[in-house]
Amino acid sequence: MRVLGIETSCDETAAAVVTEEGDVLSDVVRSQVALHAPYGGVVPEVAARDHARAVVPVVREALARAGVAAADLDGVAVTSRPGLAGALLVGLQTAKGLAWAAGKPLVGVDHLVGHLLAVFLRRDGAPAPEERPAFPYVALLASGGHTAIYRVDGPSLGAIRELGATRDDAAGEAFDKVAKLLGLGYPGGPVVDRLAAEGDAAAAAEAVPAVMARKESLEFSFSGIKSAVARHVAKRGRPEGQALNDLCAAFQGAVVDALVQKTVRAARSEGVERVVLAGGVAANRGLRAKMAAACARRGLALFVPPFASCTDNGAMIAYAGALRLAAGERDTLDLAPETRTALPRVTRKGGGAR
Ligand code: KG4
Ligand code: ZN
Repeated sequence: MRVLGIETSCDETAAAVVTEEGDVLSDVVRSQVALHAPYGGVVPEVAARDHARAVVPVVREALARAGVAAADLDGVAVTSRPGLAGALLVGLQTAKGLAWAAGKPLVGVDHLVGHLLAVFLRRDGAPAPEERPAFPYVALLASGGHTAIYRVDGPSLGAIRELGATRDDAAGEAFDKVAKLLGLGYPGGPVVDRLAAEGDAAAAAEAVPAVMARKESLEFSFSGIKSAVARHVAKRGRPEGQALNDLCAAFQGAVVDALVQKTVRAARSEGVERVVLAGGVAANRGLRAKMAAACARRGLALFVPPFASCTDNGAMIAYAGALRLAAGERDTLDLAPETRTALPRVTRKGGGAR
């Protein structure tokens, strides 16, 4: 089965052709980062308009690189939720038009399910089938829009359960806001990651209090860390040189410690031996290193997809859609965008740290 996946939920216009085994035949991602950078974050209307300009060329390129015509496809998958309504609409209308014109089945995909299954994607034959996780696994999904821990018992919506999520900012959002405070530009994750590697977290410990978290809770809160950095900058001014590196290291360390501790706790309390990382923040070197060490200590197997599978892409949407098609599921041309995920949520937003 060869399925086209289209992703336009946020600030990447992406399309890919993937088989139901997860083999990536093509994967085209066109980022809007430069377009939103002057505003310090994603502007929804700017995103939607740029998707409208880019989506047809991106889809054409994905088909061309895979060497398939629309007529050769077994279906069209598209992110239908969660995301920016106007941005989602562009991908949805494109997918519907293509599916209708080519007479192919259409399936909507929940973007979060795409992220949670991205670990199965095979690029140039890697990883080998036996290097991919078996179900169940516990997944940490940390991106610019979402941060939550899930138990994944299978690929369908009903087999995925949220164990805890952030009550305020997403982890990537915290990186982006702190980078903005420090004058480091957008997006903030990669640059904070780079500076943190040269810094000493202990030297800036007083600026970033440890995240006060109830030990047994699987919920996150990152707004307090961001506010602490804001107060520090208001009082002392923007640090430079080594002091800037130290502050980045302290901030990143606090965020990473919370992500690692709660993910490991979730795996242990669920009695699950496999841990999977997903989302753009999974690119963070500090997170990868600390999660690897913590999992090794507890005898947990850690699966970290390559960077291209962690950040937003069309391949994860095509794969999740291929599994829906293989299960005999279809959507109609009435499929509409939804701003919220279809996955049941246990964490209420806006409640502060627990
Ligand atoms: O998954 P993604 O590409 O898009 C969303 O669905 O949000 O994630 C983007 C987020 C941004 O907030 C970015 O700052 C963060 O991932 N990010 C990182 C790193 N690379 C990207 N955060 C920390 N360290 C990184 N190396
Ligand atoms: Zn995403």
